[in-house]
Amino acid sequence: MADVINTSLLPFLILLNIFVSNIVSTSAGSTSTTYNVVSLGAKADGRTDSSRAFLSAWSSACASNAAATVFVPKGSYLLRNVVFSGQCKNLVTFQIEGATLVAPSDYGTDSWITFERVSGVKILGGTLDGQGAGLWACKNAGKGCPSGATSLEITNSREILISGLTSTNSQMFHIVIHDCENVKVQGVQVTAPGNSPNTDGIHVEGSSGVTISRATIKTGDDCISIGPGTSNLWIENIGCGPGHGISIGSLGKDKNEQGVQNVTVKTVVFSGTENGVRIKTWARSSQGFVRGVLFEDATMNNARNPIIIDQQYCPHDGDCPNQSSGVKISDVTYRNIKGSSASEIAMNFDCSHTNPCSNIVLDNVDLTYENKVATASCKSADGSATGLVHPASCLA
Ligand SMILES: *[C@@H]1O[C@H](CO)[C@@H](O)[C@H](O)[C@H]1NC(C)=O
Ligand SMILES: *[C@@H]1O[C@H](CO)[C@@H](O)[C@H](O)[C@H]1NC(C)=O
Repeated sequence: MADVINTSLLPFLILLNIFVSNIVSTSAGSTSTTYNVVSLGAKADGRTDSSRAFLSAWSSACASNAAATVFVPKGSYLLRNVVFSGQCKNLVTFQIEGATLVAPSDYGTDSWITFERVSGVKILGGTLDGQGAGLWACKNAGKGCPSGATSLEITNSREILISGLTSTNSQMFHIVIHDCENVKVQGVQVTAPGNSPNTDGIHVEGSSGVTISRATIKTGDDCISIGPGTSNLWIENIGCGPGHGISIGSLGKDKNEQGVQNVTVKTVVFSGTENGVRIKTWARSSQGFVRGVLFEDATMNNARNPIIIDQQYCPHDGDCPNQSSGVKISDVTYRNIKGSSASEIAMNFDCSHTNPCSNIVLDNVDLTYENKVATASCKSADGSATGLVHPASCLA
């Protein structure tokens, strides 16, 4: 679009300007419009419900004929469960740097902040405060509690950037990417206490082309969990712990389930985590699979199970009549994995006896337990080892 504004549009633009805080021209020459949530009635006091102002800024930005920005000034804003849905006419940027969005203290279910059916959205900066502490206390006391909400869910969407976001004390999962294509998550920080239940950092499912880089994740469940139907996933430069590590799974709960393929997990430091790199499946029949996974350059600082494939997952008696997983795991490489294990078995391949793991590759693995060489355990797993591998490979 040209810089020149057609004069016949002027009366309309002046009217619009009552609601719109400012109109700026970008260097690209197209007009970008900014919708300030405070001008639309949001209160930066952390306790007045500002949902309507956010939703109205979103609908205007989404309907905008040019790239538009939802601008959230510094301060703290209470939001109820909100859904920002597409389709939008143009790229929308959520500028929340310096602002904190606060969840209501009565717990929701599903998700608190949802983006659905959007294409071309950037979420820049900001802090999401899920206010989960009360709910975790209820859960940890074993009472009947609501499930709680995921803090941020992106669903059925494409071309998304989440950059520099902090998510703290989510009631349930912090960030969920579900049925999406081409999502970049960079420089994100997740913080929740090590004993907060089900507070996974980032969960990816049914999505292709997701990249997660430069994240620091401290939480009570998986730092990153990878669900069915995930492909072409790239994870790089992650600090994880406390937490349960990076997990492909749980998979294979259902018979008809999509597989997981082409996953790279690179340059991760695990500190005091329950697991390092894990693949976990239910011991039930399933058509699911995991293939083409590379775990590379990981440092373990006292991870309880640094390398683990667990195909025997079955939390309740009777759920798994056949005690065997149908999920076929193949072509998984562990390269340059070093550090200390908090349990003696640092490498544990507990695969399905009906669908053994195949082509597991160990390439330069060096794991210790209490300053001694740790041990390895293999069930129904075959593959090969190259370079220095400590503990010695037990792969068939
Ligand atoms: C695997 O995923 C990466 C992104 O993580 C992508 O660049 C690459 O092309 C994918 N490979 C295949 C064979 O699809
Ligand atoms: C148990 O195995 C039988 C025979 O292979 C299969 O038909 C059935 O679906 C399995 N059940 C479960 C719950 O895995």
